[in-house]
Amino acid sequence: MAFGKRKWEKDEKAGGRIPGGTVAVWGSGDCGKTVTSIKMAERLTGMGRNVLLIFADAETPVFPYGCPPSDLMGEGSLGRVLAAPHVDEQLVKENCVFYKKNKYLSMLGWRKGENRFTHPAFNDARVAELLKAAEGVAPFVIVDCTSGIATDVLTANALLLADSVIRMTGCDLKSVSYLSSQLPLLSDAKWNMAGHVKVAGNVMPNEAQGNADGILGKAAFRIPHSLEVEKQFLEGELFSELCYKESRSFRNEIARLSEEVFGA
Ligand SMILES: Nc1ncnc2c1ncn2[C@@H]1O[C@H](COP(=O)(O)OP(=O)(O)OP(=O)(O)O)[C@@H](O)[C@H]1O
Ligand SMILES: [Mg+2]
Repeated sequence: MAFGKRKWEKDEKAGGRIPGGTVAVWGSGDCGKTVTSIKMAERLTGMGRNVLLIFADAETPVFPYGCPPSDLMGEGSLGRVLAAPHVDEQLVKENCVFYKKNKYLSMLGWRKGENRFTHPAFNDARVAELLKAAEGVAPFVIVDCTSGIATDVLTANALLLADSVIRMTGCDLKSVSYLSSQLPLLSDAKWNMAGHVKVAGNVMPNEAQGNADGILGKAAFRIPHSLEVEKQFLEGELFSELCYKESRSFRNEIARLSEEVFGA
């Protein structure tokens, strides 16, 4: 499987911003963080970019519902990486899981059946090492965070250390409640809340823009509901490419978001 930088990425250095970096996708429960992370990865790998996608969720591991088990290669686990005495690039590579239909995509996540107690607990230092090592594994790193800033060490550290943070929310009162509860935890300047890229997820066609803005504050991006994504989710095929014409508006907004946070 392909790891690391590609030649043309070096060439781009000459002309301004180098595309890439580490992006944390964080926000309220069920607002579309995992969908958005996977589909940003799909866009980038579709352009031949190497992506490392890290799924933080240890309560509901993503692999068992992302695709059929026969489409995955590799037996590694994010839990195993974080439980190690020291995390380096080699350990991350050894624990990557691959989707057989996409040679540019490497993934780290919790395995089917695992939970927080399957491996020894980890701390801030291990996550910092993981995110540093991830930079060497792929030029584009996406961390699909959980909603638990206070309970998930990986999510909290990704918010602190990533180059960009996508703050996603649904357009409902539950999301408002989530933000009013959790944003005060990020009030210290070190969290750089003002730098968050605000995204409304899974926006239904009948949700008036004014309502959403009233609830969320002006969201810079609005990812529309996509029937094809809904179908992929139900069929356990989220890692598959989107191909319906109707998914164009969804894909376009994912592209705009990816350009904003990754420059690609
Ligand atoms: N743009 C979209 N179009 C259609 N369905 C969507 C979209 N975004 C999210 N969904 C659906 O919403 C549900 C939650 O999505 P997802 O798992 O990505 O949310 P999440 O924020 O990662 O949730 P959690 O907080 O549990 O990690 C799924 O059923 C998913 O298919
Ligand atoms: Mg999720």
